[in-house]
Amino acid sequence: MLFASVLLPLAFLLSLGSAYRDVSDDTLKKLPGPGTDFDIKKGAILAPILRPRVSGTEGNVAVRQHFMDFFHKELPEWRIELHNSTSTTPISDGKEVQFVNFIATRDPPGATEGDVSRLALVAHYDSKYTPKDFIGATDSAAPCAMIMHIARSLDAALTKKWAAADPDDFDVEHKGLQILFLDGEEAFVSWTDSDSLYGARALAESWESSFHTATSIYRTPLDSIELFLLLDLLGSKGPTVPSYFKTTHWAYKSMAKVEERLRKLGLLKSSPNYPSKMAKRENKKPRRERNFLTEAGKSDDAFMGGFVQDDHVPFMARGVEILHMIPSPFPSVWHKPTDDAEHLDTDTVEDWAKLVMGFTAEWMELEGFFDFKAEKRKDFADKSEFEIP
Ligand SMILES: *[C@@H]1O[C@H](CO)[C@@H](O)[C@H](O)[C@H]1NC(C)=O
Ligand SMILES: [Zn+2]
Repeated sequence: MLFASVLLPLAFLLSLGSAYRDVSDDTLKKLPGPGTDFDIKKGAILAPILRPRVSGTEGNVAVRQHFMDFFHKELPEWRIELHNSTSTTPISDGKEVQFVNFIATRDPPGATEGDVSRLALVAHYDSKYTPKDFIGATDSAAPCAMIMHIARSLDAALTKKWAAADPDDFDVEHKGLQILFLDGEEAFVSWTDSDSLYGARALAESWESSFHTATSIYRTPLDSIELFLLLDLLGSKGPTVPSYFKTTHWAYKSMAKVEERLRKLGLLKSSPNYPSKMAKRENKKPRRERNFLTEAGKSDDAFMGGFVQDDHVPFMARGVEILHMIPSPFPSVWHKPTDDAEHLDTDTVEDWAKLVMGFTAEWMELEGFFDFKAEKRKDFADKSEFEIP
């Protein structure tokens, strides 16, 4: 008996990390779009983030409050935590500045904290101190908005999957979703090891020594992150995102495959072949289109070890697996006053949201748990309520 109880979890451990199931074309077609939520002026999700939000300032507090309000109202099943730390910065005159990471977690009901492995969707929510009044629409207001929309769109399917789960299905009962909106990514003066990644460094360090109970499968919250999926600098037209890491190239390939399928199905709005654009053109011949993810075919020996400094660094240094969705080259607006609302390409923002949503739905194995009809009815009901004079 002792043997069994020791060996069983080990056997389970060996089987982890392999579960990933495609969703059907029909599901891809029906994944909800953001409606007007990404409208840069009045969009309920995106507009409140499009303001200066330098760490330690009022704008930063307001955007964090927007996250809190959104989760409390739309996603009450998620557990919200704030992770606080302080540090001086090169411009703080020796004073401590507060950095607050926003963490939202949805685990299967009844799961023990240390036994859940999670897909973490990550973006930073602070904006850069310079240039003056910098908005950072791609950096990373839009990625935060995408993640909020994804969480809301998949939430009901998660509930349904877990409600229907066979209690002996280890994988279902032990797979969760986490959102990290990190603070203090940007340097105040210029990028150094101490002037950058304030929130990420503090969180990775703190989680490294926050131990789950001794019988847990995962030792710390860091070990619980099965994949750290970091979105950054997304929302400009025509991005190309390489595959940065050999050990997560398999996940990159899964994302690339979702993109390829979305393109074939004509579901990406930024594509010249999106049906409504085609309809307006005289020449209906499909045009060549460029994928966002260009390196699905990269061979193992082509990984040269180069990567972009970003919030993943303190996590990667502690052994967390990283999938980094950041374009190379960076968007032309990068760290310029023009990285503002008006320069976002809304079609591209929506396409990224759809792509990462498709990947997340496959990661969480949600095929068969969407109830698109019910969602529609609800929308309709909401609308008809407004129409009553
Ligand atoms: C973290 O900081 C926020 C904002 O300043 C505050 O509301 C919250 O109570 C703090 N949390 C902890 C655990 O100290
Ligand atoms: Zn930046």
